[in-house]
Amino acid sequence: MAEIQKVEIRALDNGFGREVVGIDASSRLDDETLGWIEQAFAEHPVLVFRQQRFDAPALDAFARRFGTPQRHVMLKYRHPEIPEVSYVRNVDDAGKTDPFGVKRASNWHADATYETHLPRLAMLHALEVPSTGGGTLFADMRAAFDALEPDLKETLISLTGVHGFNVGPGAEKLYATQKLAVGQVDQFHPAVLRHPYSGRPILFVNPSHTYRFVGMEVGAGWELVERLSKHAIEPRFRYHHHWQPGDLVIWDELATMHRNAADADPKERRVLLRSIVYPAVGAPKPIAAV
Ligand SMILES: [Fe+2]
Repeated sequence: MAEIQKVEIRALDNGFGREVVGIDASSRLDDETLGWIEQAFAEHPVLVFRQQRFDAPALDAFARRFGTPQRHVMLKYRHPEIPEVSYVRNVDDAGKTDPFGVKRASNWHADATYETHLPRLAMLHALEVPSTGGGTLFADMRAAFDALEPDLKETLISLTGVHGFNVGPGAEKLYATQKLAVGQVDQFHPAVLRHPYSGRPILFVNPSHTYRFVGMEVGAGWELVERLSKHAIEPRFRYHHHWQPGDLVIWDELATMHRNAADADPKERRVLLRSIVYPAVGAPKPIAAV
């Protein structure tokens, strides 16, 4: 109890992210501290912990306190010892620039919405960061929903978004794909979700993976995704995280979108560890907001 009293949460300059002060997240957290983080996280969907020291096993152990981490689909980015931890980096094993790593995730998105089961949260831990740029941008999809006009809110609540891997209007510039890849199937998620912990409605549409709505003409759906995305990424709904080595950032995969600012010199090393966490068996899941 004495320890948790020293923990505090601080507002940050660049938007809705919050810094947690007083927790060594890489140590084995007691249940009280974990409960404090859970409570803070239900209210603040991007939490920043500075000056942390995680190796892959420690990051995996921390991630497992929140659910079930999943292995990255791209084998080359998996950590060799802990496959549930992957690298986000702009260099390969030999230290050469990795062109995909440089541009990776530079379009606004939420992770894995093209799958049936939605992730709960993801985390990044900075090992090496460029001297300037290379930050990560987040958008608060709760605040974005709250700020929509009442009529549009009502329309959206009755809509179901159709998702595919990088087939939305925000993905085409980066990946030049507007068609579902071979073998890929559409996934359907309500356009507005109710958050399983806070109960708040969330605009669950992202311009990388959402490309139409059930029962709506494709062109009109595409335009609606563009319109909603443009709204959601307005500066008033954003947080811009500027990385320092040792930072751990955890974000809510339902309540936010994110992107790599991709504005750093690709010759400067940017190496982060990542874990993506799915709800544990029996944990609350998002439901349609009706
Ligand atoms: Fe991502």
